[in-house]
Amino acid sequence: MDGRDLVRSMKAVGPVGAFQGLRTVKAAWRRRRADATGLPVRGPERARVPGLVQEVEPGPGGGTLRFSRSELTIRVAVNGAVFWGWDGAGPEPSYALADRCPEPDPRAVLEPDKDGGWRVVAERVTVVVSRHGAVEVCTPGGVMLRRDLPPRWWEPQGGGPARWMQRSEVAADARCFGLGGRASGPRLRDGTYRLWNTDPGHAFDREDDPLYLTMPVQLVVADAGTHLVFHDTSWDGTVTLREGEEGAGSGHDRPGACEMRMDGGPLRCWVMVGTPARVLLAWASLTGAPALPPAWALGHHHARWGFGSEQEVRRIVAGYHEHGLPLDAVHLDIDHYDEHQVFTVDQDRFPKLSVLAEELRRDGIRLVSIVDPAVKATPGNAVYDSGVAEDAFVRDASGRLVEGVVWPGEAVFPDFTHARVRQWWGGLYAERITQGFAGFWHDMNEPTSFVAFGESTLPRSARHSLEGRGGDHREAHNVYGLCMARAAYEGLRELVPDQRPFVFSRSGWAGLQRYGGTWSGDVATGWPGLRASLSLVMGLGLCGVPYSGPDVGGFDGSPSPELYLRWFQLGAYLPLFRTHASLRAGRREPWEFGPEVLEHARVALVERRRLVPYFVTLAHIARRTGAPYVRPVWWGAAGNRALRDCEDAFLLGDCLLVAPVLDPGADRRSVQLPRGRWYDTATGRAYEGPGQVLVDAPLSRIPVLARAGAVIPVRGDDGGLELEVWAPVRGRTGGGLVVRDAGDGWAEPEIERYVARWEGPRVVVEREGEDGVRVPSHPVRVRGLGRR
Ligand code: NOJ
Repeated sequence: MDGRDLVRSMKAVGPVGAFQGLRTVKAAWRRRRADATGLPVRGPERARVPGLVQEVEPGPGGGTLRFSRSELTIRVAVNGAVFWGWDGAGPEPSYALADRCPEPDPRAVLEPDKDGGWRVVAERVTVVVSRHGAVEVCTPGGVMLRRDLPPRWWEPQGGGPARWMQRSEVAADARCFGLGGRASGPRLRDGTYRLWNTDPGHAFDREDDPLYLTMPVQLVVADAGTHLVFHDTSWDGTVTLREGEEGAGSGHDRPGACEMRMDGGPLRCWVMVGTPARVLLAWASLTGAPALPPAWALGHHHARWGFGSEQEVRRIVAGYHEHGLPLDAVHLDIDHYDEHQVFTVDQDRFPKLSVLAEELRRDGIRLVSIVDPAVKATPGNAVYDSGVAEDAFVRDASGRLVEGVVWPGEAVFPDFTHARVRQWWGGLYAERITQGFAGFWHDMNEPTSFVAFGESTLPRSARHSLEGRGGDHREAHNVYGLCMARAAYEGLRELVPDQRPFVFSRSGWAGLQRYGGTWSGDVATGWPGLRASLSLVMGLGLCGVPYSGPDVGGFDGSPSPELYLRWFQLGAYLPLFRTHASLRAGRREPWEFGPEVLEHARVALVERRRLVPYFVTLAHIARRTGAPYVRPVWWGAAGNRALRDCEDAFLLGDCLLVAPVLDPGADRRSVQLPRGRWYDTATGRAYEGPGQVLVDAPLSRIPVLARAGAVIPVRGDDGGLELEVWAPVRGRTGGGLVVRDAGDGWAEPEIERYVARWEGPRVVVEREGEDGVRVPSHPVRVRGLGRR
């Protein structure tokens, strides 16, 4: 880096740099020095391709093919997922897999194919390997979904990890989603997407990439079928996508292309094929069921960096009460810490935190605490002292503690890739529980360390345990947040065994859903930020992380009243519904934007509270099936191309279609409807899909449509459960699932199944059981009868 680059990058550091002054300059130099001496020098490299197939050895679920310069193992698992690994890579060890790798499917066998190739035929997928090592994934009918060309490796001649490159083709009509949280999506257009969890260091917009939570998971949707492909390696890399083009019947289609380049790690992947629902089910069975949040976490949360005192928290809560606004959780940011030190409380400004927590809880409001991984490196700081005693912190290649700079100043970082360290860290939440906190908000865990130049994270040469295998930050970086979430989740299970842990984390990786959810991070205040918010939630859901949401109103600056309201109205239908903003930003309380916004925000809040039973049902469904709460409109109709390209609306479960307003000045918007009848829930007006319709979207609400026949569990005026039923189309039946639980705890609730059907002039709703149907025990309200 020359002098000019240095000045430029120091400017880019902005307020953080100014805040931390010279420290970040020193930290940047320290980081550079560590890598200059601690990383192996990459000498000349040798390129390699597999060569020709020489012999095969059948094995469980497939077998191994030996090529002249590599080998490929294929294994179809009992859940229908296909694994293949080059160069001897097996599915384990893996940070993504839930427990153990699923058993191989004994019915899948390796058999010869044409032109000297081989194939494995399984129930839902056929994998064809050419004699050069190209791997094709086909539907049982033989239509190609994905074709991986023979991979290429570059091996340093002096030893060390090989870089690799894998080019793939997908159908010309395919659309790609996922790769973790991406602001420009949900559809991933042509471009290069980096796989390296990154704090952008400023409020991000649509074009910022990568962000805090990346993962090598792509969901590819095409006419011929949907598949999910997961490359199980945590190293830095890029995915370059180019959408295909259809030759309008000329037979000259250009397939979609994907080129993946990784700095290291095994070349291994999993592919799942089927409908979106089937694919996400297989993904959840592989990487773990999404953790079930307690019901209160499905309500409304209010946060801010800089409440600053107990009085201010009380003032905000009183404001919610006075204005008749439901509130379920208040989040305390780093300003409640003593000098920004994790697991401490500023006793001057929060002298009776546990009393405050108790009072709030009596009003049904939970306190959530931010938790940062960086520990202030000062003897006398109890967390630092105990961490040193535990040998918990990341060290550099020469054995010294790695020091970075975060909010408390010079700080050290726990090595969450070590089981013993996770256990120690998990135990520290006892202090938070004593303070009265009920939930945990993990931040800065990419991990972020402020630097005046270079990458704002740990040196790549920093050493990590990686579960005893040993390695460095190049491999551990992307799983750091995931392992921190695991530490918290497992710690909380022990500390408060009767409660469901509530953890959400800025960074993470494949499998994060086992421990909790995530949120947008510092989304920029502006209309593009609003769109990015939806993109993140949808994309993450399709990667198996169903619980997330944005900073409503945006993280920085001050939204216009209209933007704030439109964000609020969208947030009310997302799993994590949280207002939050920066220390330096304007206010975010609903009453700060004038009486009209207050009135409409109240409607959104009241509606969210009414829908909590539905959100609880969706949380249970996500846990059992992997289906996200927020689904793209093509979820049940991936073959419908118009739906596939619709990015500005979503399905909330099976029953509702939410069409947020994402542009200023709108009072109507067009909505792409899936097949069937849809009722505007505000006016009762019915629309017939598939097709595009224009619906009213006055400032008072965003369009929400209910599917004909839907049975939606809602909270009645008396707080009890009611069934809101939308009349099925005449001659058809409807129905739905309802899962009621106690709001917390581990009791396995019953799944209630309802059917709705016409009986003469009436719609009848019945509960189905093993012993026949019966009258529902909840009040039923049928809507859409007097449809216009
Ligand atoms: C960065 C987080 O993304 C943000 O939500 C938080 O308010 C600040 N850190 C301060 O803790």
